[in-house]
Amino acid sequence: MIIRKISKASGTVRVPGDKSISHRAVMLGSLAEGTTEITGFLKGADCLSTIDCFKNMGIDININGENVTVSGNGLYGLTQPSGTLYTGNSGTATRLLCGILAGQSFSSSITGDASIQKRPMGRVTKPLSLMGAKIENEYCPLYITGTKLHGIDYKMPVASAQVKTAIILAGLYADGDTKIHEIEKSRNHTELMLGAMGADITADGLDITVKPAKSLSAVNVDVPGDISSAAFFMVLGAIMPNSCITVTNVGVNPTRTGIIDVLKDMGADITLENMRTSAGESVADITVRSSTLCGTTVGGDIIPRLIDELPIIAVAAASAEGETVIKDAQELKVKETNRIRAVVDEFTKCGIDITETDDGMIIKGGKAIHGADFKTYGDHRMAMSLTVLAQMADGESTLDDSDCARVSYPMFFDDFYKLGE
Ligand code: S3P
Repeated sequence: MIIRKISKASGTVRVPGDKSISHRAVMLGSLAEGTTEITGFLKGADCLSTIDCFKNMGIDININGENVTVSGNGLYGLTQPSGTLYTGNSGTATRLLCGILAGQSFSSSITGDASIQKRPMGRVTKPLSLMGAKIENEYCPLYITGTKLHGIDYKMPVASAQVKTAIILAGLYADGDTKIHEIEKSRNHTELMLGAMGADITADGLDITVKPAKSLSAVNVDVPGDISSAAFFMVLGAIMPNSCITVTNVGVNPTRTGIIDVLKDMGADITLENMRTSAGESVADITVRSSTLCGTTVGGDIIPRLIDELPIIAVAAASAEGETVIKDAQELKVKETNRIRAVVDEFTKCGIDITETDDGMIIKGGKAIHGADFKTYGDHRMAMSLTVLAQMADGESTLDDSDCARVSYPMFFDDFYKLGE
C-alpha cells in the first residue's frame, strides 16, 4: 500500500474500544452468573479470537455492532472445547486463557498464529505450575490438563498485566489466598472488573491479594476508547504543522497514561477535558495541537504505563529536536514482533539517526527524512506508527501489509484520512 500523505490533520475522532478491557469483559462475563452487556466492544481480530474461544467452551455470545451480550455460565460452567483453542495474534487471549483453563475439570489446548508460537509462555506456565497447574510446553501449542489449584505467594520477575491476570484468574479457582507482588505497576483492568463483579480482590500498591471465589456477578461494561489507539492521533496532532485533533471517550486509567506524561514532557500541547468515570475506569476527551517537540528520556517505572505506545513515541522522538533515550524496555523484544529491532530497522531506512540498545533505543531527531518501503512484520502497531512516520518524510513511502492493523483498529486508515480531509 502506498501511504498517502496529508498536509494537516484536524477534527474529532472516536477510536475503537480498549483491547485489554474488551478481552476481559468477554472472559469474566463468561465466568459470571447472569448476562453481561458490553458496549463499545473492540471488534478487532484479537478480541474476536477471545469470543470464538469462549463460544467453543459453550458460552452464548451475541455480537451486534459494538454491542456484545455474554450469557455467563458461572465459574464452573465452561465445557470442554472441541479441538484446539485458536487465539490468533493475541498474547492477552493466550495468557489469560491459561489462567482460566488451568483450574477447569477438563483438558484443553491452545495455539495461535506464527507470531504467537514464538512468544514466551513460560512466564505464565511457571507461576501457574507453582499453583499446581499441569501445562505442557513453554511456547504454543500449550496442552493443559485441568486440575485443583493452590494459592501462592509470587513475586513477579517481569512487569506484565498478562502474567498478573493469569495468576489472578487461576487464584479464583485455588483452595487458598493468592498473593502477587509486582515489580512495577501494570494495567489494573482485571482488578477493577473483578472487584465490580464481587470477587474478593485487594490491591495495595504493588501487592495484590485474591481469595478463592464461589461466584462472580455479571456487570455491564461500557468499554472506553483505547488510549493505545488514540496514541497514533496524539502524536500525529503534535508533529503535523497546523493540526488540532480531539480524540473523544478515551480511557485514561492512570496505569495506561504514560504516553500523555511523555508527550507533555516533550513539549506537546495536550489537554484533557470532560473527565468522567465509567465502571471504575477514568475516561476523557484528549485534544492535541501541533507543537515543537524536544527529546527526552523514557525509562523506569513509566515503561509498563506506555509499553504498547513505544513505537509511536519513537515517531514523536524522530520529529523532536535533540536526543531521546528509550530504556528499560526489554519487554518490547517479546511483543507481536521484536519492536526494538523492527523500529530501528524501519526508521534507519528513511534516514533517521537511531541506535539499538539492549533495552531500547536512542533517537537523534529533528532531521529531514525520506520515504521508504516499510515492513510491518505483521505487527499492527508497527503498521500504524509507520503510517504516521511517513507523513514527515519527503517522497513516497509504502507499507507491505496494512491489513494487520485490524488486530486492534480495523478502521484505522479510514479514520486517519478523514482527519486529513
Ligand atoms: C495487555 C498487557 C500488555 C500489553 C498488551 C495487552 C493486557 O502486555 O502489551 O498489549 O491486556 O493485559 P504485558 O502484560 O505482557 O506487558
